[in-house]
Amino acid sequence: MAYNADPSRYKQMKYNACGNNGLYLPAISLGLWHNFGNEATMQNMQDMILNSFDLGITHFDIANNYGPPAGAAEENFGKILKDQLKSYRDELIISTKAGFYMWDGPYGDGGSKKYLIASIDQSLKRAKLEYFDIFYHHRADPNTPAAETAAALDQIVRQGKALYIGTSNYTAEQAAEIIIEFEKLGTPYIIHQPIYNMLNRGIENGLVDILKSSGVGIIAYCPLAQGLLTDKYLNEQIPQNSRADRSKYVAQELDKNIDKIKLLKPLAQARNQTMAQMAIAWLLNTGNLTSVLIGASRFSQIAENVAALNNTKFSQDELDLIDRIVLT
Ligand SMILES: NC(=O)c1ccc[n+]([C@@H]2O[C@H](COP(=O)([O-])OP(=O)(O)OC[C@H]3O[C@@H](n4cnc5c(N)ncnc54)[C@H](OP(=O)(O)O)[C@@H]3O)[C@@H](O)[C@H]2O)c1
Repeated sequence: MAYNADPSRYKQMKYNACGNNGLYLPAISLGLWHNFGNEATMQNMQDMILNSFDLGITHFDIANNYGPPAGAAEENFGKILKDQLKSYRDELIISTKAGFYMWDGPYGDGGSKKYLIASIDQSLKRAKLEYFDIFYHHRADPNTPAAETAAALDQIVRQGKALYIGTSNYTAEQAAEIIIEFEKLGTPYIIHQPIYNMLNRGIENGLVDILKSSGVGIIAYCPLAQGLLTDKYLNEQIPQNSRADRSKYVAQELDKNIDKIKLLKPLAQARNQTMAQMAIAWLLNTGNLTSVLIGASRFSQIAENVAALNNTKFSQDELDLIDRIVLT
């Protein structure tokens, strides 16, 4: 059946400016890193994308290597777009990235002009798009001069293949270096995508200041620490097919952090929020972010997470308690 978007979708979501730029992103965006590969069903992927759009989530984040196999998330999103969302293209902000290994040989990884231009051309074909709204350099490449990476990204915008440029996983020093290059070129560099959650505060040590002072927006990935900051692991069981069940790294992080997670739970309860809602609200309350980039394995999680917007204020006592729990 043809999809018609909920006419009330823009009433529920909050939209924030990307730094000093004209582009606004929803306070909560959806990423397609997991659960959009070829192991997933089209029905579940479609449920998540279309119902998210009905909640006012206008921004969907992909990367060249999301799958499995690599490239599948762009293809699957492209199918949903073509079949159901075509008439809403101008209401969507679709991003992709390049920077990690994508194909064999010296031109399928890194930050060279050769890799970045070839990769966005492949991504456009897979997603059947004329342009991406945001194209990211997925990680800094120490073997490519920042000036070359910036020039490639600038060219991508001038060729009309992307409207805006972003970076991801850069350190404060790497961000400062490429900002100088973008400024020389006049590139619309509007956003950085780092990991940021209650348990991982690395960006607070310099990166936030550099981005803010340059008018660059920030969208936080892994806001729930891949699901650790939810209610699902509190009883110390790992549910079948959860992220911790599928990833050894997440299971190890759970082991390391379970005591802190348990201590956070009463605070969430006192706020009438689930753990996931409190974790997202806490990020939005920092005032550092344009958007929180969540992942999900089913739509019910997205609905729960978007309800975090109903209460994003924290008292100083709550913030101090959270810091005492997570930073010790
Ligand atoms: N730039 C980068 O290098 C980079 C790296 C990583 C991610 N990202 C981006 O960030 C996006 C989000 O990353 P992420 O998926 O790790 O984010 P996350 O929001 O920290 O974790 C999402 C996972 O947590 C679980 N979950 C979510 N809501 C839940 C709820 N309410 N209750 C219980 N469990 C819940 C689900 O896992 P299960 O149900 O499967 O357990 C879900 O797949 C990615 O899709 C990608 O777009 C970017």
